[in-house]
Amino acid sequence: MALRKILIHPDPRLKKTTDPVTTVNDDLRRLADDMLETMYDAPGIGLAAPQVAVMSRMIVLDCEKEEDATPNPMVLINPEVVWSSDERNVYEEGCLSIPEQYAEVERPSEVEVQWMGLDGKTMREKFDGLWATCVQHEIDHLDGKLFIDYLKPLKRQMITRKMQKLKREMARS
Ligand code: NI
Repeated sequence: MALRKILIHPDPRLKKTTDPVTTVNDDLRRLADDMLETMYDAPGIGLAAPQVAVMSRMIVLDCEKEEDATPNPMVLINPEVVWSSDERNVYEEGCLSIPEQYAEVERPSEVEVQWMGLDGKTMREKFDGLWATCVQHEIDHLDGKLFIDYLKPLKRQMITRKMQKLKREMARS
């Protein structure tokens, strides 16, 4: 396993729609392992393939927040929201591609998601609470959408300018 470099916003690759995965092979299994390791190392609770510059529809999640909780790593290939609740929920979201910036985003509080597992099997499951927010946030990444796209333009521009400054500083050091 290896850590992958996480792209920082603004980056054109974070704004693109990604390609469906057609076959599960060793490269994809390695990518899933690397993404989980990169996510836990960050630390974060979700990561989408385009965030590590791979333009494929795959996400990883583990939203068990308690320190003594058993890890629950999930790998979702070609995930799709097939049902969402009318009830909505507001969570303060962040993103590993937008470090140290947080904002409240409203989304359906429950979703049902269908995806393919690493074993090639089709899975379908309901997500609620933090898991629902996280899975929707990560699926958005596969369509080039970031959580700041839900914010008012002024707030979004402010965060983008901070990230541009951060990237200049990172490039210098
Ligand atoms: Ni994100």
